[in-house]
Amino acid sequence: MQQEQHALIFDSPTALRIDKLFIRLTDLIPATVHLKLEGYNIAGSIKLKPALQMITALEQEGILNSNSELIESSSGNLGTALAIVSAQRGYRFTCVTDPISSKTNRQLIQAYGGQVLVVQERDDYGGFLQTRLQLIKDMLAKNNQLIWLNQYANKNNYLAHTKTTAPEILQSFPHVDWLFIGAGTTGTLMGCLQYFRQHSPITKIVAVDTEGSVTFGAAAKKRHIPGLGTSRKPEISKLTEVPDITIVPEIETIRICHRYAKQGLLLGGSTGTVLAGLTKYANDIKPNTNVVAIAADLGERYLDTIYNPEWIRKHFDASLYHSLYPNAKTYS
Ligand SMILES: Cc1ncc(COP(=O)(O)O)c(C=O)c1O
Repeated sequence: MQQEQHALIFDSPTALRIDKLFIRLTDLIPATVHLKLEGYNIAGSIKLKPALQMITALEQEGILNSNSELIESSSGNLGTALAIVSAQRGYRFTCVTDPISSKTNRQLIQAYGGQVLVVQERDDYGGFLQTRLQLIKDMLAKNNQLIWLNQYANKNNYLAHTKTTAPEILQSFPHVDWLFIGAGTTGTLMGCLQYFRQHSPITKIVAVDTEGSVTFGAAAKKRHIPGLGTSRKPEISKLTEVPDITIVPEIETIRICHRYAKQGLLLGGSTGTVLAGLTKYANDIKPNTNVVAIAADLGERYLDTIYNPEWIRKHFDASLYHSLYPNAKTYS
């Protein structure tokens, strides 16, 4: 189906997003960190890029028709982006998600006419991914109009970043010494690794993951913040070796998010993780070098989690709550 057949016609693909917006963080490490803000587009996250790339590729392959129904497992941001692109192009869309996905994302998907299915059972690794994938497989077996985008194995997930995110960074900063990228499906990471290997091999790329994620071989553990981390190694993560990996406990993510909120910058969870990972390299990064980090979304989707005192109290140690809310009167 062609986009021109529908009522909304964007004049260029870039009309959907702001591609080269950076903010400078001067207080994190001795070098200035250029944080690439990916949350300023109609979907509110970097996931608009793979959503567009994956759906457009299916259209170009002639796989989609007016009866096609798309389905995807997502902790929220890709689901929201797919709901938008599906609504614009006239496809039905179902997002399979879980209780730790952001409530705002679930509401957004529904607002765009998408269906949301929330699985409740944790899988053998303590996460929800296997349960989400099993539900999709069961639904695919019953409905031959249903098409699973499968971001974990879909090459168009990382190609989106080879085509957009990576060149956008090098067009903005021709010399990049360090690049810090959060890893979920590893689409952003793999796409950037491919592009930078070819166009800027001097750039040191660091993958940042969250404690409890199995992507880079660590043990599975219960996680609370949506976005980064997996409970099953994504197929696309095996594409190329990742030179440098750092793992961040959720408590450090929350501390960084609150630190920047106090300065007037509301970061999303994965951005807090990426910046906490970056601080571990403070002694390796020379002051006058160019450092770039990717902020996949913004903080408004985390008002009911990271920025919610009750949620912090429920899921983390009392000491974290007291350090973040020193003026809170009671703790029961
Ligand atoms: C907020 C946020 N950050 C980071 C990521 C990870 O990106 P990728 O799947 O490209 O590894 C995601 C993925 O959904 C996300 O929603």
